Amino acid sequence: MQLKVNGAVRSFNGDPEMPLLWYLRDMLELTGTKYGCGMGLCGSCTVHVEGKAVRSCQTKMGTLAGKSVVTIEGLGGGHAVQQAWMKENVPQCGYCQSGQIMQAVALLKEKPKPTDQDIDSAMQGIICRCGTYQRIRTAIKTAAAVKA
Ligand code: FES
Ligand code: FES
Repeated sequence: MQLKVNGAVRSFNGDPEMPLLWYLRDMLELTGTKYGCGMGLCGSCTVHVEGKAVRSCQTKMGTLAGKSVVTIEGLGGGHAVQQAWMKENVPQCGYCQSGQIMQAVALLKEKPKPTDQDIDSAMQGIICRCGTYQRIRTAIKTAAAVKA
């Protein structure tokens, strides 16, 4: 099967049950996407499939034929959300942050001017053991203002 990852066409002939997270990290060496729980509970593995935020540890390769996947590497560094993250000094240890950013990008695509409630409900599945939630919220608002 073929799929697109960060705009490039890729082939995959392995086990259709393999999680996308394994493919990204072990086969494509895109290690910006992190393995946290492996059970769909922490959100650190969040990427986009067809523009929607998904947990890559719970997404099987067999469901991705012809689909487009974007990882943190695909944002390129200059994305408004990444810039806002730097401006607000969001990360602490950093482990959860690629998942946080991918979820935030998906949120702003859907709701360019999110309310606090929108932010809480979109971001609640991404756990930060360092407790950076307040700065995450500020950075999402900063990015929303830039994009407005
Ligand atoms: S590693 Fe996928 S949700 Fe935790
Ligand atoms: S910054 Fe450390 S887990 Fe979120």
